[in-house]
Amino acid sequence: MSNSLFRTKKISNILADSSSGGDDEYATGLKRVLSVRDLTFFGIAAIIGAGSFSSLGSAVFNGGPGVVILFIITGIACGFTALCYSEFASRIPVAGSAYTYAYASFGELFAWIIGWALIMEYSIGNIYVAFSWSDYFVSFLDKLGATFHLNLHVPEYLSNSYPEVTHAIAKGNPSEEILLAWNNAPVIAGLRIIVDIPALVINMLITYLVYRGVKESRNFSNVMVVLKLIVVTIVILVGGYLVFTRGLTFNWMPANNEGVHSFMPNGFGGVMAAVAGVFFAYIGFDAVSVLAEESKNPQRDLPRGMILSLVICTVVYILLSLVLAGAVNYRKFEGVGDPLAFIFEKDNLNVGWMQFLVAICAVVAMTSVLLVFQMGQPRIWMSMSRDGLLPGIFQKIHHKFKTPSFATILTGIVVGVPILFTDKTFVLDFTSIATLFAFVLVCGGVLLIPKKEKSPGRFNIPYINGKYIFPLIVAGSLLILELFVKGYFVRLFNFDFSANTDYTSGKISFMDVATPQIALIVFWAAAVLLAIFTFLKNYSLIPLMGLATCLYLLTGMTKSNWAWFFGWMLIGLVIYFLYGYRKSKLAGDTN
Ligand code: ALA
Repeated sequence: MSNSLFRTKKISNILADSSSGGDDEYATGLKRVLSVRDLTFFGIAAIIGAGSFSSLGSAVFNGGPGVVILFIITGIACGFTALCYSEFASRIPVAGSAYTYAYASFGELFAWIIGWALIMEYSIGNIYVAFSWSDYFVSFLDKLGATFHLNLHVPEYLSNSYPEVTHAIAKGNPSEEILLAWNNAPVIAGLRIIVDIPALVINMLITYLVYRGVKESRNFSNVMVVLKLIVVTIVILVGGYLVFTRGLTFNWMPANNEGVHSFMPNGFGGVMAAVAGVFFAYIGFDAVSVLAEESKNPQRDLPRGMILSLVICTVVYILLSLVLAGAVNYRKFEGVGDPLAFIFEKDNLNVGWMQFLVAICAVVAMTSVLLVFQMGQPRIWMSMSRDGLLPGIFQKIHHKFKTPSFATILTGIVVGVPILFTDKTFVLDFTSIATLFAFVLVCGGVLLIPKKEKSPGRFNIPYINGKYIFPLIVAGSLLILELFVKGYFVRLFNFDFSANTDYTSGKISFMDVATPQIALIVFWAAAVLLAIFTFLKNYSLIPLMGLATCLYLLTGMTKSNWAWFFGWMLIGLVIYFLYGYRKSKLAGDTN
């Protein structure tokens, strides 16, 4: 029984299933039309979107100009992970991404778990992007209306989600927008009708586009990426020029509450507080790997596309953060949801046309993110179905458009229905934790797959023996913390059991307080164990660093993130044992 849970799929079988079209009518090939440029564009299309446009402001507010350091750290973590994705993608150039990779390394149960987690990254992540798209679209219409003296205003009750409004009202002190939504909403049978219509409409349009076919979608996506890069470049150039010519560079060393001028006014803790938002801004490079079956030369082009897009986006983020933090004092970003437009407002740099341009750009950027993720989800399901873990209909390819038609429509429904019942914060957290989890498994998977002969023209992850380096990195980090962060380990193990009684008068429990401590203890224990195994087994340094950095980022998750994550996983396991475990193609092999 336990063996069959961890039954792995041989890489040669995965390739054979895919190239021969499998053994049934559904698995006939997708069109191979994507080049390295298309793949890079896909990466950028998926990466620069809601995260950067909405969370950059609070990241600068928390970390000050020093948030640049976090973008570099997260960029490096994602870079290691991208190399691992690339290694897998070059060995297993078929659709399915981390799911397929896990199947080859950890076995079926983990593969299923990761496929299930990827629903959160792709579909649930898209709910967040759809909400953000709606915010920017509505404000774009307002700006357009103001310019041309037209009434293009979408009522607040038709541009916010019901839970968002009710939560804000329940918490007290709601914003003006929330109050307008609540007070003006029509009431039917005692229920206020509050629904985010633009988010629903954009989801339907994107679903239709993806259903129509990858070629059309690719052209659409490439145009949007070019537009978005041009506008982001203009923001950097105009913003940067004004920072220097107006002598605002002092904002890069702002004073903190104690009056001390620093690049990191809230210390490194302040910088790290922005981790979740910054990480979300990077999600997307991995989506490139699901296009393996549609790229002309996946072995060579997938890794190139992923790493190129990551490098470009990291540079963009660093420059954008510097411009933002230079243009305006970091404290002014509190609660600012549209930071790129905000810096050009009247009280700040005061460039009206830039506000307008940024609003258009945000809408474009998020449309392309939606498109890429909406394309990725059906392709993962298709792979899972091919392995027997989901019903055959998930592989159904449209005879004319050559796209996975049923899975595409289902993705539209999975994204669309929760738009009625969830809010942004919830889906953002859910997406980040699941994506980090998938990254951890991919990096871990590269450690486990057997070495291969290097072959020219293919991507080979450079092997650097971690035997001494990794244990030294772990020991060095522990030493630095002990020497330079006063009381770090004492605080780590000092659980305040009275917190329960102190805090729970209602809302905060002992676990809320203790979760970060527990997560860090688990992280350091894992790091030490990894160091020991690396010393014994000569593990490769790059996947090790990817694993360690992603595990570290996971320590930033809260108790409720973990609770929802485990709940979701439990549902997934029940479905696996009721369906996939029995229907798996490998179950047939073993019987
Ligand atoms: N990185 C993507 C975004 O920021 C998910 O929208």
